[in-house]
Amino acid sequence: MKNIYLNIYRPNSINLKKAKKNIESNNVIGLPTETVYGLAANAYSNKSVKKIFKLKKRPSFNPLIIHFKNLKDLKKNAICNDSFLKLHRTLCPGPITFILNKNPKSKISKIASAGKKTIAVRIPKHKVARNLLKILNVPLAAPSANISSKLSPTCAKDVVDEFGSKIKFILDGGRCKIGLESTIIDLTSKPSILRQGSITARDIYKILKKKIIIKKKIKVIKSPGQLKLHYYPGIPVLMNRIRPKKDGAFITFGKKFTGRKNNFNLSKNNNLKEAANNLYKIMRNIRKKNYKSIAVCKIPNFGIGLAINDRLRKASNR
Ligand code: TXA
Ligand code: MG
Repeated sequence: MKNIYLNIYRPNSINLKKAKKNIESNNVIGLPTETVYGLAANAYSNKSVKKIFKLKKRPSFNPLIIHFKNLKDLKKNAICNDSFLKLHRTLCPGPITFILNKNPKSKISKIASAGKKTIAVRIPKHKVARNLLKILNVPLAAPSANISSKLSPTCAKDVVDEFGSKIKFILDGGRCKIGLESTIIDLTSKPSILRQGSITARDIYKILKKKIIIKKKIKVIKSPGQLKLHYYPGIPVLMNRIRPKKDGAFITFGKKFTGRKNNFNLSKNNNLKEAANNLYKIMRNIRKKNYKSIAVCKIPNFGIGLAINDRLRKASNR
């Protein structure tokens, strides 16, 4: 059988140098982060960033997150207010993205930030992402490595399943620890969560001691993670069910749902972190097995369960 995974590379120092070369040659690479895999390119280069939009079939109005190695580089591109600095101290590097006003001196490609005056910034924690950023002289624009509106990839093979040989170089950082995209918090006015993630409003409240707004439905779409047709696995998703439909798969949580053939358990131990980590993997797996629908049992709505339910709601809202 033909090996379709030849574009996956171990993250040793030789391959990190190759990744650097690719970025410097305006290529797009697959990059692991602690949340999901990204499609990474030189954030200063219009040419590089255009390739990301094309590969993902992403609308040009939808800006990309810019990944930095440290606060110093981030400050050159974004205006860092007090709330940001407080959150940065405790939560970075980590699975959180901040919307800040763009520094007028920023050299970030206008295409990457979709011509906006704001910019999404993140300092990832994954060792491979950090090791690459360390040897680069540029920040990385990196959206999740999936075709627009589809499921995010949580391992290197998922990136190949999305893009085949169109991506020539993917660094293998193993399975992502978190498995859901970063929390996005807009700090350009009253702190508002635009996308829920493993860092919750409660976690942020504890640091800022300020009310945190959670934006669910907003008229002007600031963040297409808020678009209804997102995280779509390709077949109908039905939430809060007690059994699957005929020819359907059943995504479950907890001990009482073990056994049956079409049952895909997110966590037999009632562990929400484990469930979050399994969600996209299981949905991809179900997709490959020709089920006609996915029923999902009730998932506890606290902690990272909030982000799980957010993704399921968006996947089910067709
Ligand atoms: O975990 C993650 O954040 C992953 C990894 C690779 O870092 N990246 C990721 O990127 O999820 P993406 O492009 O799939 O989602 C980024 C979201 C999009 O919904 C985009 O609209 C929003 O961030 N965004 C980017 N810039 C923005 C801005 N200036 N204002 C509001 N939303 C913004
Ligand atoms: Mg995405």
